[in-house]
Amino acid sequence: MIKKIISYTSEQTLDLGKQIGQTVSSPFAIALKGDLGAGKTTLVQGIAKGLGVDENYYITSPTFNIINEYPAKKVRLCHLDLYRLGSADELEYIGFDDLTGPDAIIVVEWPDFLEKIQFKFDLEIKFEFDSDYNRVISLFPSGHTGENMITNLVL
Ligand SMILES: Nc1ncnc2c1ncn2[C@@H]1O[C@H](COP(=O)(O)OP(=O)(O)OP(=O)(O)O)[C@@H](O)[C@H]1O
Ligand SMILES: [Mg+2]
Repeated sequence: MIKKIISYTSEQTLDLGKQIGQTVSSPFAIALKGDLGAGKTTLVQGIAKGLGVDENYYITSPTFNIINEYPAKKVRLCHLDLYRLGSADELEYIGFDDLTGPDAIIVVEWPDFLEKIQFKFDLEIKFEFDSDYNRVISLFPSGHTGENMITNLVL
């Protein structure tokens, strides 16, 4: 099942993220796809809220440090932005393998290199602009974990 919503404001995207954060259980991995400024980081801010990450953390795109980790109640939110990654080999140097674990919620902007090495995402979220510059956000689950999560999501 694929779910699709149109987000007219950044608040709506934050809300969707919050819902996802409240629904998801670890371990879980999400790939975020869409152009610069499409709203990927905005969605992660919502996910952090839904997971209960301390509001004092300001969540920005980890474009330069590549990985940001935020502790939540029972899980860790691992936010990656691979835009500046040069190759899949570099994943080893940034310590990607250490990130995975039963308590990890992994959310990746620009996930191409991880897909190249066959990393399995439970959910892919695609951001597109419609002709009025609204965000069309589509959710593509894969496997049972992703499907179950999508089913429990109240949109
Ligand atoms: N419906 C919407 N959903 C999300 N963001 C919106 C929306 N409408 C306007 N915006 C604005 O668009 C910008 C989205 O920026 P954001 O950092 O989330 O994009 P991004 O996809 O992470 O980009 P990048 O690839 O550069 O990291 C924000 O300034 C946000 O306020
Ligand atoms: Mg971003």
